[in-house]
Amino acid sequence: MMGTQRHRLVLIPPPFQGHLTPMLQLATILHSRGFSITVAHAHFNSSDPSNHPNLNHPNFCFLPLSYGLSDTHVSSKNIVDITATLNEKCVSPITEVLVDQIEKANINHEKIACVIYDGLIYSIDSVARELKLPSIVLRTTSATNFLTYHASFQRQTSGCHPLQDSSLDLVPELEPLRFKDLPMFNSGDMLKEIAKTVAVRPSLGVICNTVDCLEEESLHRLHQVYKMSFFPIGPLHMIAGEDSPSSSFVEEDYSCIDWLKNQPRKSVLYVSLGSIASWEEKELTEVAWGLANSKQRFLWVIRPGTISDISEWLQSLPKDVRVAIEERGCIVKWAPQGEVLAHQGVGGFWSHCGWNSTLESLSEGVPIMCQPHFGDQRVNARLLSHVWKVGIEWSNVMERDEIEGAVRRLMVNPEGKEMRQKALKLKNEIKIAISNITNLDLTFSFFHFQKEKKNQ
Ligand code: UDX
Repeated sequence: MMGTQRHRLVLIPPPFQGHLTPMLQLATILHSRGFSITVAHAHFNSSDPSNHPNLNHPNFCFLPLSYGLSDTHVSSKNIVDITATLNEKCVSPITEVLVDQIEKANINHEKIACVIYDGLIYSIDSVARELKLPSIVLRTTSATNFLTYHASFQRQTSGCHPLQDSSLDLVPELEPLRFKDLPMFNSGDMLKEIAKTVAVRPSLGVICNTVDCLEEESLHRLHQVYKMSFFPIGPLHMIAGEDSPSSSFVEEDYSCIDWLKNQPRKSVLYVSLGSIASWEEKELTEVAWGLANSKQRFLWVIRPGTISDISEWLQSLPKDVRVAIEERGCIVKWAPQGEVLAHQGVGGFWSHCGWNSTLESLSEGVPIMCQPHFGDQRVNARLLSHVWKVGIEWSNVMERDEIEGAVRRLMVNPEGKEMRQKALKLKNEIKIAISNITNLDLTFSFFHFQKEKKNQ
């Protein structure tokens, strides 16, 4: 297929769970298609490489890099600052690593076919260009979310700024999204970051972790507005399948799978806000009350660091709530989310609507109670509730009665049942779409594209 010379791909993820996971899934897929792989990742916030099934394979290697940053830098919640600093600090170590990889490839009769980097690390664009390496960007959020960047940026440059966060008006070209769903559009700093991301021009195009049956129209519009090639290759976790490595920063607690085995079909609400969003202690207490009063079963992820002493907090709850948690609940620090959502005991997901969680839920036919916190999550929540109609958009009022009502709407009411049916239909559509993608040889499509570019 590629003659005697092997092709190596260098993949560069940023040190965030929701971005590293899909990049490693892509690495797994491309490795299985015959590419040699180097994953150049930050020395902190990386998954344990020993979890990776390909680790002992000579053509798959992990390369930890020092960006002069630490996990305390990136655990601050100011995403704009973190992104700007990351982009500033990564240029020199990434340049060094790529130069080194080119030299090593020459010695080993390999060729660096392409650098694949996350869209958040836009400064790699110029590095790849300078080293004359072909490049591809991986977008780990939805295609629709990338369109919102264009919409925000365009409005800013045509002087319609600042837009108000409270605006419920529909964005004409992005209905049913409202202005308030555009990602942090009212922050000047965020817009500067968005402008840099929008300016990136990878030579081979963009891989979107999405699938036509979910976002056909948005994908079509992306081609039109950005004048680049977009490859919908997703959901990556499904294409990577069982080869998919565990890339969790926190150890997964499998005791919840044993607990799930003893729960009736579709009876459990899975509650998790992903790797960044969280509730404050007062809100956690309202959640505990709301879940208890809903009389539903629940599996609840409370990440380390969310609360200083979880046993003390549990003890501080009234007896009725504690009994409800013991009888109908299971609390873990981090769950094997893929397995949880695939479990027949799970009937609903209370989610922050991160894109990975959204895709994982849709591909298992689990409807969502949407509580977006920031950024692309608002876009995803709107798609879930208004486009695919498998998510309830609730008031977001963190009070026990509101929570109880929302949980019952999803788990018990006819509205929730209908969503479960729609979600199952969507699951099948995604499965069919995936079988078409995997039948296509991804390797071939990349290289075919590369050849076309050269001939232009
Ligand atoms: C971030 C952003 O918040 C999100 O909106 C963006 O789309 C990607 O980057 P995060 O908030 O962590 O990601 O959410 P999400 O995209 O849902 O990713 C979380 C990942 O952690 C998922 O793959 C999920 O399966 C995993 N997870 C979460 C676990 O494995 N166990 C858990 O207990 C919780």
